[in-house]
Amino acid sequence: HEEFTKVKNIATIELGRYEIETWYFSPFPPEYNDCTKLFFCEFCLNFMKRKEQLQRHMKKCDLKHPPGDEIYRSGTLSMFEVDGKKNKVYGQNLCYLAKLFLDHKTLYYDVDLFLFYVLCECDDRGCHMVGYFSKEKHSEESYNLACILTLPPYQRKGYGKFLIAFSYELSKKEGKVGTPERPLSDLGLLSYRGYWTRVLLDILKKHKGNISIKELSDMTAIKAEDILTTLQSLELIQYRKGQHVICADPKVLDRHLKAAGRGGLDVDVCKLIWTPYK
Ligand code: COA
Ligand code: NA
Repeated sequence: HEEFTKVKNIATIELGRYEIETWYFSPFPPEYNDCTKLFFCEFCLNFMKRKEQLQRHMKKCDLKHPPGDEIYRSGTLSMFEVDGKKNKVYGQNLCYLAKLFLDHKTLYYDVDLFLFYVLCECDDRGCHMVGYFSKEKHSEESYNLACILTLPPYQRKGYGKFLIAFSYELSKKEGKVGTPERPLSDLGLLSYRGYWTRVLLDILKKHKGNISIKELSDMTAIKAEDILTTLQSLELIQYRKGQHVICADPKVLDRHLKAAGRGGLDVDVCKLIWTPYK
């Protein structure tokens, strides 16, 4: 809905120990129109025009991790749940930052309605954001994820798969099926296709006897439509006597599993301490 031309204004950002080249336009407030580089506090995500401002800020900013509750910790990985209503400025800053790497998402100013799951790598200097996903507090369309981002310096290391797996672990705890909000970017779809393929084919490999899409959905919290399109795209579904029949030839499954790539980082469900939002 932006009236002005969407020219990419901010070319680079500084965040923690990284200088990152941006990908897309993000509608920062007009007073930042004259900048090509922004300096982010890696903890509160406030952004500034000049390095000296950031240095002054870092002396007084007392955050060492995202605001909100730590709901998962395993080794050096931690996940924080941030309520957009309780931490409005943080939520807005995160949206401005994320839009720099998201093409077609509309930016939600209404962060009140969302929870943000911020994944961090922690060391003695603090918890450094690796990526995040957002989730509507109440979704009529059974969306369990709105936006997902792995910051470029951390991409292709399995964090995206971890974030996707995490979103489904939350859905399992809620006792609901979930699906990501559409449209998905090319990279988003690739990541989801890989996740769905691995999860479903792992089950098919181990399972003895027939299994239905409904049963697969109950076990994984993956929406039935997503299961159907995944298995169809792999040509694992046949339609016989008015019923869907899933192929479970171990050789065929192994071939697809191999093509779906590495599994990445696993979510250790025992380490997730969380109750659904009410
Ligand atoms: N080229 C080709 N395949 C890629 C890719 C790339 N640049 N980036 C990811 N993939 C595919 C691969 O199949 C990869 O698995 P592999 O490494 O085993 O081959 C799989 O996606 C996931 O990789 P992973 O390392 O777990 O994901 P990631 O941490 O890089 O994060 C996104 C994936 C989508 C979150 C990340 O690319 C991103 O933040 N993109 C910008 C924002 C966006 O488009 N979000 C989705 C729309 S809402
Ligand atoms: Na999801």
